[in-house]
Amino acid sequence: MNILVTGGAGFIGSNFVRHLLTASDDTIVNLDLLTYAGNLENLAGCEDDPRYRFVRGDIKDRALVRRVMNDFRISAVVHFAAESHVDRSVEGPEAFVATNVMGTEILLEEARRAQVERFVMVSTDEVYGSLGDKGAFTETTPLAPNSPYAASKAAADLLCRAFHRTFGFPVLITRCSNNYGPYQFPEKLIPLMIANALEDRPLPVYGDGQNVRDWLHVSDHCRAVDLVLRSGVPGEVYNIGGCNEKRNLDLVQLLVDELGKSRDLITFVPDRPGHDRRYAIDAGKISRELGWRPTVTFAAGMADTVKWYLDHQDWLQQVRSGRYREYYDRMYGAGGRHEPEEGRS
Ligand code: NAD
Ligand code: TYD
Repeated sequence: MNILVTGGAGFIGSNFVRHLLTASDDTIVNLDLLTYAGNLENLAGCEDDPRYRFVRGDIKDRALVRRVMNDFRISAVVHFAAESHVDRSVEGPEAFVATNVMGTEILLEEARRAQVERFVMVSTDEVYGSLGDKGAFTETTPLAPNSPYAASKAAADLLCRAFHRTFGFPVLITRCSNNYGPYQFPEKLIPLMIANALEDRPLPVYGDGQNVRDWLHVSDHCRAVDLVLRSGVPGEVYNIGGCNEKRNLDLVQLLVDELGKSRDLITFVPDRPGHDRRYAIDAGKISRELGWRPTVTFAAGMADTVKWYLDHQDWLQQVRSGRYREYYDRMYGAGGRHEPEEGRS
């Protein structure tokens, strides 16, 4: 297949490109705008592979998307490109609607025009909203997104559904829980905590730290997306998750211990507005129907991830020294929304 991967310079996209280059003989075109989150260093070494091509561009650029579909005779699309960080969507939802909704619509139209045979929409469990203490999201759980990020992903996800229902376009939707692993941008919980701990800086835990996320190693997510691409049934939705729920505070403590740092670095900061309390995925369908199971245990995955960040501190420094720094200061610096409060730690 000639596969168009969008957002292939981001965290999951770059892991997916690497996965395809080793696990398949497909040709891969990576279309990525290189926003603050896109980093070609994530793909160092891939450039030399004749099966890999990079195109810098915007999924909202219809003429470019059309050209890419035609020039590279694209037969399948795996769509990762997105604005992906909830806190940024609280600060400014517009870019989320533009990229995640409008961009997805343009991709769908152009992929349909090019008679693409498979289109995988990489969605998220956040479209389902928040859970109470019990239960897990299934594919039939009603969509109830709470953040602008989640709402924009739900809109894109529903456009995909509509393209299948209306036009019979072969879209497959995956909804995955929180990923962790190498190359994750240090605005997300795990790499942010590792980066701060390495510099003995405060570790900002939102609210009471009792929010729960269901963590999955990125390599297991990549295998699942690949499986859905090749064996999934068009029009179907597949939940992907690790059955691996952790409270934020417990996770941060575990990271601190793993790094041999002091738990005194943990600092409670004002909560994220509209903060979803708990996510948990029922991945029974993909397991039953496609035979997927996570293979990386949380203990092994976390140990590997911490080691990766320790071994790649130059990567961390580089990422943290750019525009990300301004954003970081705006959120966590003096007067920022998550500026640490006096007296709580
Ligand atoms: P990321 O922010 O690390 O990467 C996003 C990539 O998309 C970047 O390389 C960026 O440059 C690119 N991009 C952004 N806007 C673009 C545009 N207009 N045109 C072309 N490229 C553009 O995100 P991630 O964490 O790797 O997530 C990838 C996908 O997986 C997203 O769709 C996200 O919603 C979904 N997802 C993520 C998680 C998670 O835990 N990270 C979980 C479930 C689903
Ligand atoms: P995040 O990595 O942003 O993923 P998502 O919001 O998409 O689940 O956050 C994971 C959890 O960690 C979420 O409950 C918010 C919390 N969190 C903090 O407590 N402190 C932080 O600095 C960040 C970035 C997140």
